[in-house]
This record gives sequence, structure tokens and C-alpha cells, in this order.
Amino acid sequence: MSPNPSAPALPAEPRRLPAPVAAGQPLTALAPMQDVTDLAFMRVIARYGAPDFFFTEFFRVHAQSRPESHILRSLDENTTGRPVFAQLIGESVPDILRTVRALLAHPVAGIDLNLGCPAPKIYRKNVGGGLLRDPVRIDEILGALRAAVPGLLTVKMRIGFEDTANFAHLLELINRHAVDLLTVHGRTVKEMYRSEVHHDCIAQAAQTVRCPVLANGNITSADRAATILARTGAAGVMIGRHAIRNPWIFRQCRERFARRQTDGGAAGPPGGIFEPTLADVREYIEQLYRATSTPGVPERLQVARMKKYLNFIGQSVDPAGAFLHDMRRAQTEAELFLVCDRHLLAEPARLFPLEPYPGVLARPNREASFETCSLDNVPA
Ligand SMILES: Cc1cc2nc3c(=O)[nH]c(=O)nc-3n(C[C@H](O)[C@H](O)[C@H](O)COP(=O)(O)O)c2cc1C
Repeated sequence: MSPNPSAPALPAEPRRLPAPVAAGQPLTALAPMQDVTDLAFMRVIARYGAPDFFFTEFFRVHAQSRPESHILRSLDENTTGRPVFAQLIGESVPDILRTVRALLAHPVAGIDLNLGCPAPKIYRKNVGGGLLRDPVRIDEILGALRAAVPGLLTVKMRIGFEDTANFAHLLELINRHAVDLLTVHGRTVKEMYRSEVHHDCIAQAAQTVRCPVLANGNITSADRAATILARTGAAGVMIGRHAIRNPWIFRQCRERFARRQTDGGAAGPPGGIFEPTLADVREYIEQLYRATSTPGVPERLQVARMKKYLNFIGQSVDPAGAFLHDMRRAQTEAELFLVCDRHLLAEPARLFPLEPYPGVLARPNREASFETCSLDNVPA
């Protein structure tokens, strides 16, 4: 039989994902989050129980772009003990290839293409989620990336732009270009962060593509992760905002998955899962503040930056959102930690709930804007 010229060349050796922390368990990954998942945050998360894989914030690709030095640090100075994939966002093939060549000179676990960012400022440039309207261009980009990346090529996508009309075709493209790992955030671009997550689409991806699929979107806890894995057949979970709220979540997932292996997946009462106290959370906030403090940055900006994280943490502190109300008013480091002490050390041994309190809203944009991810009020 003559070789099919349109078929991608087979790699000389099969590409393998890096080994997970716990062999045989579903995979876990920290979701890339711009202005959040930098080197400092990854290091803090790793102390509480690292995920199997990290992803960088996106490297922007355009005619004048150079890989951002602050994002390169999360590759070059990675001390988490876990592999870091470099994510990029762009649409120009020559510029993407130039960027990939530059990134491959750094210790990357693989190259990840962003096909999901829902911010209008981004998708109007036909990049991120905007590309989901243009499968022909995605085909071209993935073909070029596959030829240029000898190691792991991964994709993180939403299920469509306005609707899911292109979804089945997009999954074919993932197979055609031999993508090694696919993350599916089960929402369209237009659904932003608000709607229900469409688990049926994640299940469709898990059934269709030949690579492992990570389920993403509103995975709030280890129990929820186990439920979604059972519902979708995904190979693992990617968790974003709820890892900011609860940095123990990857450790808890491993503990929960170990129970799943021994009881066949039955959802029993919680047990054997580490449950942090409010005092543990106070300690986490302290670690985060120290790790993310940059010499020379004014205290006021440092406090504002910290409030972005506290918005998510506050979703599990009290059901009325009193902690969030108070911390939003703090202006100085001393005021901020006074609020933390009042809310977290009054009953230090009280358990920090594993799920967020319903209806307690994170409003991270109020303190400091997320430049491109345009989060509005985010319900738990
Ligand atoms: C502040 C913030 C920044 C984000 N930045 C990125 C990014 O750089 N690249 C990306 O693929 N997704 C980005 N996302 C989307 C997340 O990776 C993830 O898909 C989304 O938050 C849903 O997962 P979650 O419910 O577990 O948070 C961002 C999300 C947030 C909240």
C-alpha cells in the first residue's frame, strides 16, 4: 500500500505523557490562569499537593511578540517537581512556529494551544476562543504545530464559539494531528464562565479522540471531580478557580481517587480526605502573600493583587460573604491580615468547607482587572 501523503508522519517513538504523581489514577492539572498561575503561585500550590501537570499563562503570539520573560520564569525556575506545559495563543502560523522554536529551548513538558479564551478583546483578533469559528485555520495551525513539535502537543479548547456546530469536526482535527492531550472546558465562548458545564460534550470528546481528555469547568472539589470523571469518561480533571480557593484540592483528588479505586467508584461519605481548618487557610494566605510579594511594588498594589486570590478563598469562609465584604475594604497589608485574623482565627479549628458556599460571589475584577480574561462576578 502506498503511504497516504495527508496522514501525519508517525513519531519514531510513541510520545508519552509524563508519569502522574500516583500511578494508575486519573490525571490532574492546574488550569492556566493569566495573572494567577505564575511561578510563585505554582510553587505555593506544589507545597500543598502538586497536580500532575502545570500549564503556563498564555504566551501571546503576534508579529512583534517575544516570549514574555515573566512567563518563561515558570519554565526555567520550576522547582515544583512537576512538568510545566507552555501555552500559547495566536493565529499566525509563521509567528507561532517562531515562538515554538524559542519555547523549545526552555524546559517545557510540551506545547499547548489555547482555543478557548472568551475575552472579546482576544477573540475579536481571531485567537483563543475566536479561532473556534474557523476550523480551516485550526487545521492549518495544528498541522504546522505537529510538524514543529517533536514532543508533546496539547490543546485546551471550549466546545464552540456561539454553539457546538463545529465541535465534532474539531475533535476530528485533534485526531488528524495526533494531539497528545486535550482539555475540554465544557462551555462555548459566548457562555463565558456563567452557564452550566456541558458534560455531554466532554463525554463526546472522551469517546472520540485517541488522546486522554481532561475535563474542565466548575470542578469544585475532589468529590465533584470523581463524579465528573464517572459521568464523562475523561482521563482526568483540570482545575482552576477552585484550586485558588483550596490549594489542597489536588492532594484531596488523589485521596478521593484512591478510594474510588478500592470501592469501584461508589460515592460514599467523605473520609480519608484531608480537611483543612480555617487556621490552615490563614497560613495559606500568609504563604501566598509572601510568595507573590515583589520587591519595589507598592504595598497598595500588593494588597490589590492579593485580593484577587482572596475573592476565591472567601467563597468558603462564611456563607454570608462577610469575609469578602471586609477584605474588599482593606487598603494596607496590616488591615488585610487583621481581617484574615478576625474571620479565620476566631475559631481556628473550624473546618474549611470543601465546597464553596452557594451564592457567595467572587468579584476579582473589582480589585485589579484581569487584563484579558474579563471575569465578571463569578458564582461559586
Ligand atoms: C483569572 C483567569 C485567567 C485565565 N487565564 C487563562 C489562560 O491564560 N489560558 C487558558 O487556557 N485559560 C485561562 N483561563 C480559563 C481557565 O483555564 C479554566 O478553563 C476556567 O477557569 C474554567 O475552569 P475552572 O472552573 O476550574 O476555573 C483563565 C481563567 C481565569 C479565572
